[in-house]
Amino acid sequence: MTQLFDLSGRTALITGSARGIGFAFAEGLAAAGAGVILNGTRADTVAQAVERLSAKGLKAQGRAFDVTDEAAVAEAFAQWDKDGVQIDIVINNAGIQFRKPLVDLELSDWQRVIDTNLTSAFIVAKQAARRMIARGTGGKIINIGSLTSEAGRATVGAYTAAKGGIKMLTRAMSAEWAAANIQANAIGPGYILTDMNKPLIENAAFDAWVKNSNPSQRWGKPEELVGTAVYLASPASSYVNGQIIYVDGGWLAVL
Ligand SMILES: NC(=O)c1ccc[n+]([C@@H]2O[C@H](COP(=O)([O-])OP(=O)(O)OC[C@H]3O[C@@H](n4cnc5c(N)ncnc54)[C@H](OP(=O)(O)O)[C@@H]3O)[C@@H](O)[C@H]2O)c1
Repeated sequence: MTQLFDLSGRTALITGSARGIGFAFAEGLAAAGAGVILNGTRADTVAQAVERLSAKGLKAQGRAFDVTDEAAVAEAFAQWDKDGVQIDIVINNAGIQFRKPLVDLELSDWQRVIDTNLTSAFIVAKQAARRMIARGTGGKIINIGSLTSEAGRATVGAYTAAKGGIKMLTRAMSAEWAAANIQANAIGPGYILTDMNKPLIENAAFDAWVKNSNPSQRWGKPEELVGTAVYLASPASSYVNGQIIYVDGGWLAVL
């Protein structure tokens, strides 16, 4: 049974993993046996995150780059090729939030949110999948969606469009890559306690709304997403493709 979820000998790239949900994914996959590559926009915070995992005896390295910069992503993969690093698992986790009503939203802010939350998954997965297909080894692509992959919410229009796009991009990846034994799936987290939600957590009315609208009556914790990520990264999900699994305490079930 443990072999079903064993990631020994696998290397996982987790984008946006210097903190928050991405860091929890990195720690969880490393604890399941994977070597992990951490990423974020800043070399110093990525290095600190690597240090935190290494101190626990986990196998981690880091590389800072902007996931919206196609040239920087291509350069990272080219360097891993030179170093003999083979990426078996990608978690497209990097993301940003920006709250403004659609009627006031500048095109540049719309573009930034779409680029970071949606286009980046295409940019990074393209590099990884090309190599998985050429090697014939298969692999795992895990995209991070949201409750807004399913439900519209006011003031987060670009984010909602991006996360809805993640759900369909995941299906498109499956349609093209399943025959190469690549499983592309997504996780849709509910309201999770991270920096991204700091203003919402500190807003008493919003905090009460999260607790009242969720049958679990609480926010989720980053580590509560880890089991699903390990499952989707492991042999246990070898015939699961194009799905989005919501880990939301039941929020969507009562919508
Ligand atoms: N928190 C929630 O309730 C929730 C719910 C649903 C979905 N999600 C999704 O889960 C993912 C992680 O969210 P989180 O709450 O953990 O966010 P977070 O705490 O704000 O962390 C975001 C991470 O993404 C990185 N990042 C942002 N832009 C990047 C870029 N252009 N290139 C590389 N890295 C970039 C950040 O890097 P730096 O450290 O360098 O800034 C950081 O490591 C996101 O896709 C988010 O949309 C979150």
